[in-house]
Amino acid sequence: MISLVTGGCGFIGSHIVDRLLTEGHTVRVIDNYTTGRPQNLDHQKENPNLTVYHMDIRNREEIEPIFEGVDYVFHLAALADIVPSIQKPWEYYSSNVLGTYNVCECARYAKVKKLVYSASSSCYGIPDSYPTDEKAEIRPQYPYALTKRLGEETVLHWGQVYDLPVVTLRLFNVYGTRSRTSGTYGAVFGVFLAQKLAGQPFTVVGTGEQTRDFTYVTDVADAFYTAAMSDVVNETFNVGSGGTYSVNRLCELLGGEVTHIPKRPGEPDCTFADTTKIEKVLGWKAKVSLEEGVQKILENIDYWKEAPVWTPDSIQDATKDWFKYLGKEG
Ligand SMILES: NC(=O)c1ccc[n+]([C@@H]2O[C@H](COP(=O)([O-])OP(=O)(O)OC[C@H]3O[C@@H](n4cnc5c(N)ncnc54)[C@H](O)[C@@H]3O)[C@@H](O)[C@H]2O)c1
Repeated sequence: MISLVTGGCGFIGSHIVDRLLTEGHTVRVIDNYTTGRPQNLDHQKENPNLTVYHMDIRNREEIEPIFEGVDYVFHLAALADIVPSIQKPWEYYSSNVLGTYNVCECARYAKVKKLVYSASSSCYGIPDSYPTDEKAEIRPQYPYALTKRLGEETVLHWGQVYDLPVVTLRLFNVYGTRSRTSGTYGAVFGVFLAQKLAGQPFTVVGTGEQTRDFTYVTDVADAFYTAAMSDVVNETFNVGSGGTYSVNRLCELLGGEVTHIPKRPGEPDCTFADTTKIEKVLGWKAKVSLEEGVQKILENIDYWKEAPVWTPDSIQDATKDWFKYLGKEG
């Protein structure tokens, strides 16, 4: 089996690469190293079944030959932060929408067996009910969420019109080893772990009572693998842990002082996936508890040594545009 992972040098992609190599696949990776790091695959450097191509999915001519002979495509490449998506919408649109169009076209002509797309639970915006199922209204709140949704629609449309065998997985707050440490202010784990290493307090947004469906990365890799190997096509599934946990609980597990920063517009008080569909149709269920997942991260905390250490002031500065554009009344 030959598998191609776009964004395979990133956080989730690198774990999918590990899983595929373990399953005996020959793996090709396409990554432009914007937020991913080649070091995320250093431990596989000597593996003869892995080839990494430093390429950009926005360049169809460049990437098309890499799809030749490929059985399965795992499409993870995307820009994945909120604030930069407000500041540089074209970068996000071109990578996440046009890039996805290129991946669909290349996969179609290569006649792949399955394309699995990493969609985002951010498509639900602030939903009406929890746990949230796949039929909930689509309400993107910022350009990142919009571009991921447009990418998802493109993938499903290629399934419908061109019979490209596709599945889209809506991921909820993935965490684990190798989670992003790029310069931008982003997901809570990276921020807190760098603060813990520097002996700084955790910058908790609002009261910290807001909850997130923290899903461990190897469970997510398992969902991708299961979706690829199944006969199911043209379907969308939520991928969540089966629970939802407060940020305060996370601080407790990580252990450290806390400081509070203002709540932000457009962010839900809860994310919580209804995973009934994926359990029933694909037989997939998350296995790693938050306690186990946090433990695994703490054992590898040195990874975040080079990550930026955010303070309330630097966060206020970095999120100015968030409040400016998303905090408008009416
Ligand atoms: N982490 C989460 O909680 C989460 C939740 C929902 C969806 N997702 C989606 O999962 C995917 C992976 O996310 P991640 O958290 O691993 O982020 P990541 O930033 O670690 O991975 C994205 C990878 O894509 C690469 N990339 C970006 N633009 C590219 C381009 N134009 N050409 C080639 N490579 C490019 C980056 O260098 C990086 O390696 C993304 O599509 C993201 O939208 C993530």
